[in-house]
Amino acid sequence: MRKRVLSGMQPSGLLHLGNLLGALDNWNLLQKDYDCFFFVADWHALSTNYADTSRIKEFSREMVIDWLASGIDPQRSTVFVQSHIPYHAVLHLLLSMIVPVPWLERNPTYKEKQEQLAERDLTTYGFLGYPVLQAADILLYKPDLVPVGKDQLPHLELTRELARRFNSMYGPVFPEPQEHLTQFPKVLGTDGRKMSKSYGNTINLSDAEPIVRQKLKTMITDPARVKRTDPGNPDVCPVYDFHKIFSSTEVKERVNRECRTAEIGCIDCKKLVADTMVQRLTPIWERRATLKAHPDQVEEVVREGSKRAASVSGQTLEEAKAAMKI
Ligand code: TRP
Ligand code: SF4
Repeated sequence: MRKRVLSGMQPSGLLHLGNLLGALDNWNLLQKDYDCFFFVADWHALSTNYADTSRIKEFSREMVIDWLASGIDPQRSTVFVQSHIPYHAVLHLLLSMIVPVPWLERNPTYKEKQEQLAERDLTTYGFLGYPVLQAADILLYKPDLVPVGKDQLPHLELTRELARRFNSMYGPVFPEPQEHLTQFPKVLGTDGRKMSKSYGNTINLSDAEPIVRQKLKTMITDPARVKRTDPGNPDVCPVYDFHKIFSSTEVKERVNRECRTAEIGCIDCKKLVADTMVQRLTPIWERRATLKAHPDQVEEVVREGSKRAASVSGQTLEEAKAAMKI
């Protein structure tokens, strides 16, 4: 039996290079060795976007397309949408009965997100309970590994604590999942800050080639390099970070040398990185175009995936209800 992996992403925007390098590339590798479940966490997107739900469905669809275009293979992996499986909501409710509210109030992401998104009212019950829903998502599939970013570790810990509490109260139902952290290069956006949809500095998988090239053209460089004749410092230039990720050793060495002596200008340097980035994205764009032309195929993937997901999670939910004698 192959070990099981489960992970999800919130459809709160279009996927960008940070998501590709930070998560999707890893999922693509994992699906070769594990029985993988990947799902669109659309109910989670509601927790911060409940006041404007207008684009969640569109982002969910685009998300599945981005996954498939970048290599998620529905023959190997189960791809589904959270809201298609009501069992997630049911287990969320059952777990909500046993989760002490202080566990949720001391969850570091609770306060952090509230501060980050101060303009939204995140004093809701659903937002506080976000990690309980996440625990339900995870525990229903009894995964061995949950690939997540570092920011999600408190939620994984809470998931294990909830599993332990449930098991000791009602009997062993839920194995404790482990996180699977990946080493990936930090991906900076076009303004030099971390690439993030909330900063509006992303390069999206769905951006067309001219847009990608345009975004690179206006991308920030070493701020000390004002004139073409000023020498630059690649170590403080976010464009060079892209070289580190995408370019060949030769190009990297050349830029690293010629930037410091002002032999190469930023325009040419960016053109080099745009070319390799476009090379990397082209197969994704081609598959995206095919999938966009066949929405019925994408729907079929999700329908099949949701069927498989429902059969696994329905079974676990029955075990949980039986343990609770309900
Ligand atoms: N909270 C995760 C994030 O924001 C998304 C998510 C929801 C998730 N449910 C999950 C990730 C279950 C892994 C497992 O990235
Ligand atoms: Fe950055 Fe390249 Fe310009 Fe150097 S030449 S400052 S690495 S964009």
